[in-house]
Amino acid sequence: MKRDITVDLGDRSYPIHIGSGNLDSLGTACKAAGLKGRCLIVTDENVAPLYADRAFQSLEKAGFTPVLETLPAGEPTKSQAQLLNLYSKAAAHGLDRHSFMVALGGGVIGDLTGFAAASWLRGIRFVQVPTTLLAMVDSSVGGKTGINIPAGKNLVGAFHQPSLVMLDLNTLKTLPPRELAAGMAEVVKYGVIWDEELFRALEKAAAKFPDIGDLSEIVARCCEIKAEVVRQDEREGGLRSILNFGHTAAHAIENAAGYGRYLHGEAVAIGMVYAAHLSVALKELSVEESARIEKLLAGLSLPVGVPELAWKDIRAAMAVDKKTVGGLPKFVLADRIGHVEFGCEVPEKLLEEVWNGISQ
Ligand code: NAD
Ligand code: GLY
Repeated sequence: MKRDITVDLGDRSYPIHIGSGNLDSLGTACKAAGLKGRCLIVTDENVAPLYADRAFQSLEKAGFTPVLETLPAGEPTKSQAQLLNLYSKAAAHGLDRHSFMVALGGGVIGDLTGFAAASWLRGIRFVQVPTTLLAMVDSSVGGKTGINIPAGKNLVGAFHQPSLVMLDLNTLKTLPPRELAAGMAEVVKYGVIWDEELFRALEKAAAKFPDIGDLSEIVARCCEIKAEVVRQDEREGGLRSILNFGHTAAHAIENAAGYGRYLHGEAVAIGMVYAAHLSVALKELSVEESARIEKLLAGLSLPVGVPELAWKDIRAAMAVDKKTVGGLPKFVLADRIGHVEFGCEVPEKLLEEVWNGISQ
């Protein structure tokens, strides 16, 4: 299967190339996107032995001068220290305003590299080559880049659109099942916020999880939805915040538990259950629909409750979330599966009551 989807943003539009074996066409795709010269490929220590050579060779064959930087794997890499490290490497390798960076890996590498590219010399071009399901369906598309700081997740960053997204479905074959499940959390999100048909297809597929076979149609559908949302609202003035369904609690969970303890997708799964319960209390979502969301996530081997995090820590972390205004977090809540509202306020007492309800 080969599919191209365009993220339509006027003169900053770019393609998402979806296919099996696409890694070998990375160089030609970069050439077609008008990229030139020197490039810094950033990857992590798990991805490097699997895919760095092929990316490197493909770029070299197409006439580029690549250099490779391999970072430790995992969320703690999305840090100030690693950002500074990338600036040092960019300086050492002479990356100028015509050079570009390539993010080869999951969302951690994509967010960090994207932000390094956004800020190096006040912004150079970059390419996303996502190798996790989560990065394919979400983080590599849409131009959100950034790092975590001790005060909170993703608090420092920039909107900086990639020049292209090169997505090789074959890379999913080496992804550990826990990471695959974490990616499925973001896939379920698209079903809840936008596409009931996708949600129903996932309910069928979950019965066989993790043996769900060819994910190409599902990945393509998620990319289409994300591209459409970003086209309508690139800078998150309104609509784009629907992509944050489940994320207010998720970011708080990741922060309170310590980055890396829950995978981002796992925290999103718990956050979506929390948001679904709030939606039952405040919107039209039925108890049955909320139970379907929870059942689907559990069927995908994702956590749906929190064993040990104290409400006061979660609430404190919510207060520094980007969506919080004046200390009051704003939520995306569902009217039904397939449709959500954004910017919803939730009474303080309910926030805690519902949290206690999903605590195990
Ligand atoms: P990740 O980048 O940490 O990757 C997960 C793990 O899988 C890592 O250990 C990595 O080394 C390994 N890995 C990657 N590809 C592999 C492959 N093909 N085979 C074997 N192992 C592989 O995590 P992630 O889940 O991809 O991304 C999470 C990050 O994305 C979080 O920081 C989150 O905040 C961010 N995010 C950003 C956006 C955005 O719009 N920018 C959206 C969603 C999530
Ligand atoms: N992952 C949320 C966004 O891209 O807006």
